[in-house]
Amino acid sequence: MYPEYSTESERKMVYRIALLVSAVIGATTVAPHGANASEAAAGVRTRESINFGWRFYKYGPDETPDPLVYDARPEITDRRETRPADERPTEAVQVRSDQAVLKPWILPTANAFIKDPANHHARPAGSPGSDFAFVQAGFDDTAWESVDLPHDWAIAGPFSGGWGAAVSGGMGRLPSPGVAWYRRQLDIPESSAGKSVFLEVDGAMSYAMVWLNGQLVGGWPFGYASWQVDLTPYIRPGGVNQLAIRLDNPPESSRWYPGGGLYRNVWLTTVSPIHIGQWGTCVTTRDVSPESAVVELRVEVANRSSSAAEVTLSTDIYELGQDDRPSGDPVASIEPAPLSVDSGRTASIRGAAKISSPRLWGPPPTQEPHRYLARTRLYAEGEVVDEYDTPFGIRDLRFDPNRGVLVNGEHIPIRGANQHHDLGPLGAAFNVRAAERQLEVLREAGCNAIRMSHNPPAQELLDLTDKMGFLVIDETFDVWERKKTPLDFHLIFPEWSEPDTRALVRRDRNHPSVIAWSIGNEVGEQYTGEAGAAVARRLHDIVKEEDPTRPTTTAMNFSKPDMPLPAEVDLISLNYQGEGIRDAPAYRGLQGIRTPPLYPAFREAFPDKVIVSSENAAAVSTRGAYLFPVTKGVSAPVADGAGGDPDTRQVSSYELYTTPFGSSADKVFRSLKEHPFVAGGFVWSGWDYLGEPTPYYLSRSSYFGIVDLAGFKKDRFYLYQSHWRPDLPLVHILPHWTWPGREGQVTPVHVFTSGDEVELFLNGQSLGRQRKTPGQHRLRWDDVAYQPGTLRATAYKDGREWASSEVQTAGAAAALDATVDRDQLLADGRDLAFVSIRIADSSGVTAPLANHPLTFELKGPGEIIATANGDPTNLTPFPSSTRSAFHGRCLAIVRTNRDEPGELKLTVRAEALRPVSLSLRSR
Ligand code: GAL
Repeated sequence: MYPEYSTESERKMVYRIALLVSAVIGATTVAPHGANASEAAAGVRTRESINFGWRFYKYGPDETPDPLVYDARPEITDRRETRPADERPTEAVQVRSDQAVLKPWILPTANAFIKDPANHHARPAGSPGSDFAFVQAGFDDTAWESVDLPHDWAIAGPFSGGWGAAVSGGMGRLPSPGVAWYRRQLDIPESSAGKSVFLEVDGAMSYAMVWLNGQLVGGWPFGYASWQVDLTPYIRPGGVNQLAIRLDNPPESSRWYPGGGLYRNVWLTTVSPIHIGQWGTCVTTRDVSPESAVVELRVEVANRSSSAAEVTLSTDIYELGQDDRPSGDPVASIEPAPLSVDSGRTASIRGAAKISSPRLWGPPPTQEPHRYLARTRLYAEGEVVDEYDTPFGIRDLRFDPNRGVLVNGEHIPIRGANQHHDLGPLGAAFNVRAAERQLEVLREAGCNAIRMSHNPPAQELLDLTDKMGFLVIDETFDVWERKKTPLDFHLIFPEWSEPDTRALVRRDRNHPSVIAWSIGNEVGEQYTGEAGAAVARRLHDIVKEEDPTRPTTTAMNFSKPDMPLPAEVDLISLNYQGEGIRDAPAYRGLQGIRTPPLYPAFREAFPDKVIVSSENAAAVSTRGAYLFPVTKGVSAPVADGAGGDPDTRQVSSYELYTTPFGSSADKVFRSLKEHPFVAGGFVWSGWDYLGEPTPYYLSRSSYFGIVDLAGFKKDRFYLYQSHWRPDLPLVHILPHWTWPGREGQVTPVHVFTSGDEVELFLNGQSLGRQRKTPGQHRLRWDDVAYQPGTLRATAYKDGREWASSEVQTAGAAAALDATVDRDQLLADGRDLAFVSIRIADSSGVTAPLANHPLTFELKGPGEIIATANGDPTNLTPFPSSTRSAFHGRCLAIVRTNRDEPGELKLTVRAEALRPVSLSLRSR
């Protein structure tokens, strides 16, 4: 290793996209799910979860919150509830206020992420809020609610219904806005005297401000950021340490459900005053081949002691197992090397090691996502004073403008999904198993890439994408200076865009799954010419200073090739413009942005840049709802009576209907095929999410997913699966075939298949054999007259029988049926079982119209934390243990109790139906 005192700017490199060789890279923090210290170095760094044992208080709607505000806010003037998603963002709003604000005390928290010392914020004298009761150790908070983290204060509801509701459909009709406090006592032992103690918050929604022992410490406003504050000057080792955190979620601050609260993990980290800095390691790999790879590691050391330090660093590299633990002996080591660090300063050191026959990280099914771990030890005066683990992966990542993304030399077409941060019925409160389930279902469809739309994800989600081998576009912002909702993050953009961007990249740059940084989504600066481009340039430059190995991008639904914005980023990310917006015949009469298919124009203008479809489709549907008549075209805008039913607020699952700016999957697939230079695309969206219930804003969750909010697959899932997994024998029939009263009426039958031909039978009678023509992604029998019985489809591939399936008319609903994703759980207070309930007739055929009210009862050491049925209009609060089934299905989510192993038994009942019970084991 060799010392390095250089400024970041020396690392700035001229970036060429044509053959970008990035290396890569591992995860950010110390071992993600536990203490990192090995036995040899036990105790030198502790990272303790402080998720349990908080008190929580949120001001009620009739209370006036305390005046400890971060900043004054503009008045809300625009209260429209059904703003079109692709409407042009409006100008920033400036506020002036004489109100006392705490911003000047909070801004210094950002200093470590502001490059130019001249722009660092000096903390003013004093400690606002110190005399406020809630921050005092003596305050009696026993009447406050007891909560454990991650905690989303809004997800339990109630939902607010109707037009003009307290929280409208766009933000999910849940009470996320408001001011609330969290309090907890910290156990800071005598032995922490003389050490550095940090509070690490993985996500707090939003405008967090932290007091310890009555003193204002700092905070961070952006609700999706991960951040830390240094508690050291305020701690009382061995005594009572009272932590108090104030959060403030503005109304009308988001285009989707933001959640509210300390909704990700919170940690207390104690280290020697000479320690490896926050996200202080950066791994890159180069010269990657099956024979060898060079791993380069840069480590930043902070010296908070009162004298200069001479330290030594060494690093061992291990293979990292599926259990997140290093396995076996080190496969390589970076030799010990000395470094001097002045008091109060940081310094960094670089080193490298060669690994023979590296096990590369790459996406399944053709590659495996192997990971490594760099364990770095910091020695002062011959003693280990810190130890820091950096998980990473070794991969060769290239971007080729003619083909797209190459991982380890293999072209990987992007089959991606956009995912918002919420976990459906669990809201924003992060849970590893719930996130893993989302990824598993997407993987089953053949999805290999995730766009983190439109904000920094939970760190553990990136651990999962690393482990499972997804490619990720990691995104910072939905807005810059121009706003999309009145009180969104444009208000803090001027002061926080640099720190938030640096924080994201430093946190996430070691994850092998991250392949690109998106600095913004459909920002209003697309409309502001050179001024907007200058913002993009600034953000792009910041990203490159922090990570020169990956490309930047920004998702554009308006910019054209001759506008200044696209020139500023490395990758061209197009939202909807690739296939064309409002371009197909069915869309011609609509108002709004309109473009022809723009892939060719962007390619011509930027022959050296890779183009990716960062958002496409924006198709809408409700699982199990089929409306008639069905459009004859392959893509049509949804409207009342044309794909949408304004009375039930459901959207047809024939999977042909879209937002006014969208395109059906069929059209997207065709367009990507016709433009093979495009790297692939990300469907909007993988799963349904809370908020943005286009086209019916009286609802509470979206219709965009290929999977519904409960995790049940819509028909569209199979359309994607048939396209993304051509080798999986599959044939899927829609609609269901239980239509009492439709006898004799035209009821179109559509079939998705990975085969090339299908023969359809109704009650044994062939309705004909059809072959897909080039560019066709469904086979359709549009004139079928309904008669009860059995529809059967037999698919062929290359003339051979390939797959078959059938749907049958159900009789009267008679019984409940239950299946669970996993019946062996961990008794850790976090593990979840997802129990799917199905209503069937007496022969086991799913009753697709059954909407019976169900009651759920659990015996044993666990809790039913939520139920859900995938109906976007349903306003029953998620924690309810009674819920109606929707189109024959319902979900219960069971969580184990911490440290209480045992047998759990879930029973589900409905009037006039045979009940069902299911056993789980928690250990
Ligand atoms: C896009 C936007 C997404 C979502 C989507 C569907 O324009 O980037 O966040 O709003 O439309 O409405």
